Amino acid sequence: MKATVSEINQHVGEEVTIGAWLANKRSSGKIQFLELRDGTGYIQGVVLKNAVDDKSWEEAKELTQESSLYVSGTVREDKRAPSGFELTVSSIEIIQIAQDYPITNKEHGVEFLMDHRHLWLRSSRQHAILRIRNELIKATYDFFNNNGFIKVDPPILTGSSAEGTTDLFHTKYFNQDAYLSQSGQLYMEAAAMAFRNVFSFGPAFRAEKSKTRRHLIEFWMIEPEMAFCDHEQNLKIQEDYITFLVRRVLKNCQNELKTIGRDTSKLEKIKPPFPRITYDQAVDFLKQQGFDDIEWGDDFGSPHETAIAEHFDVPVFVTEYPTKAKAFYMKPVPGREEVVLCADLLAPEGYGEIIGGSQRIDDLELMKKRYQQYHLTDPSYKWYLELRQYGSVPHSGFGLGLERAVAWICGLDHIRETIPFPRLLNRIYP
Ligand code: 4AD
Ligand code: MG
Repeated sequence: MKATVSEINQHVGEEVTIGAWLANKRSSGKIQFLELRDGTGYIQGVVLKNAVDDKSWEEAKELTQESSLYVSGTVREDKRAPSGFELTVSSIEIIQIAQDYPITNKEHGVEFLMDHRHLWLRSSRQHAILRIRNELIKATYDFFNNNGFIKVDPPILTGSSAEGTTDLFHTKYFNQDAYLSQSGQLYMEAAAMAFRNVFSFGPAFRAEKSKTRRHLIEFWMIEPEMAFCDHEQNLKIQEDYITFLVRRVLKNCQNELKTIGRDTSKLEKIKPPFPRITYDQAVDFLKQQGFDDIEWGDDFGSPHETAIAEHFDVPVFVTEYPTKAKAFYMKPVPGREEVVLCADLLAPEGYGEIIGGSQRIDDLELMKKRYQQYHLTDPSYKWYLELRQYGSVPHSGFGLGLERAVAWICGLDHIRETIPFPRLLNRIYP
């Protein structure tokens, strides 16, 4: 009977056949231990010389790292095994012997591993990280579907920019200019006026010349947008969503968290409400901490974000940034035009901004003024203004960067391991 490691507990005492790759091998005389991976998990195959035919014994000896094979045997429960089970091998059929697999058990440099990303994905650590990513994706759909949100897919090829023009990826759209989407937000605002609560989940592109541990050129963003929702309610949804994500990973990914050595006690502490500080308070705090470089009006850089977040065990909202430091669509704080109803959510342990969100301008006259200030004269912005003309309502939304969330929840040094094939400033291979 065909089986996979993930469902091996249903086959105790039975003879099964697993399609697998050899991860590692040990042998001592008349016994060979095969560490097998089948994509769903790891299991040890025990080959006893006396229990298999000669051909299978010889084939087991031939197996090299990452050779592919069908292995048949009886499933036994084994409390000491990492998977809890072991396979007593009865026969082996080689599919292909892998010659000189480049990634061995010795230490490799990061650039070497990145050049072999197509193979590196097979390692137990990368496997665990990308499974946690998958759990976050599943949990995202569950959270928004369970809370009455409709998924709406904004376009990827666009004629306008949502987050400023400096880091747009330009392309030709027949004889017009077009850009790869930086954010679906403007379209999600249109969708919120049609469906009330909506979310998108798709790729975003930023031609940012940033070479940091937190920046990708292509990343995945979840962008909810809610009609009849103010700044305060927006933050509440973010707290609930982030808490839901963390709990789901803790519930379903204990093995993966263990494989990557994550200290889960830090994740156990995540529960709403999250602390908040205003931008004004944050600037004062940073000055007290000896940051002389920060002036009221500046956006924060990584060191500033880290210094703020270090004071909390849980994510912290920094609210009400200066109007001039943020995007054109954010609603000013009533009575204080110089700051806006927005928040960045900073993850603990120095992972920086994982969410950016705000209440949007719903007043037609103010939006017209912003169009002038920001020179949004291009006809590609015409439709967005019309959203303020036909039944405008208070509305808010936010964007969570999936890879930033994976990096934080997994406790990774660098964002490059959070996505199967990272697009970085100097890398589009493989
Ligand atoms: O703060 P950002 O630029 O906000 C927006 O795009 C809004 N339009 C979202 C909205 O309100 N609908 O980006 C949102 C999040 C950031 O907090 C960060 O997590 C992630 O997207 N992000 C990046 N992740 C990886 N690499 C990059 N270069 C990123 N830029 C932003
Ligand atoms: Mg931001």
